[in-house]
Amino acid sequence: MKLYILNGPNLNMLGIREPEHYGKTTYADLCKRIEDYCTEKGIEAVLYQSNHEGDLVDKIQEAYFKGADGIVINPGAYTHTSIALLDAIKSTSLPTVEIHISAVESRENFRQISYIRQAAIKTITGEGTNGYIHAIDCLCAYLEGKEAVK
Ligand code: DQA
Repeated sequence: MKLYILNGPNLNMLGIREPEHYGKTTYADLCKRIEDYCTEKGIEAVLYQSNHEGDLVDKIQEAYFKGADGIVINPGAYTHTSIALLDAIKSTSLPTVEIHISAVESRENFRQISYIRQAAIKTITGEGTNGYIHAIDCLCAYLEGKEAVK
């Protein structure tokens, strides 16, 4: 199984930015945790972070052209603005799990809209960086057809 784990703008600042919302785990620590978990589960993981919308569109398209089975994405602030990311995900038809570290539903009004959600099989919020592991588990369960997405 091959998964693309994508992170949008400012997620490279994890551990530094607003720890009250995003915790103290650094982006490097998060990547290591995801890589170790995927290795243990026999998943090939492609991790990528960018602060640029078009680069994220390119990577979503690459997931399709390089034969990925699914995508986990935290689009950061592009969640709330980007029709381009929505269209990119829809254009691949790849099962996609949207993840947010913080509980976006309890934050500002401008965070209540997600353009990505309508293309996602599941949205995970408010679980901190553990949410990435939950997202990978959900995607695997969906791909293996073992159980309903929880
Ligand atoms: C975020 C929530 C977004 O509203 C914010 O712009 C981010 C991070 C999260 O992981 O909680 O950059 O996606």
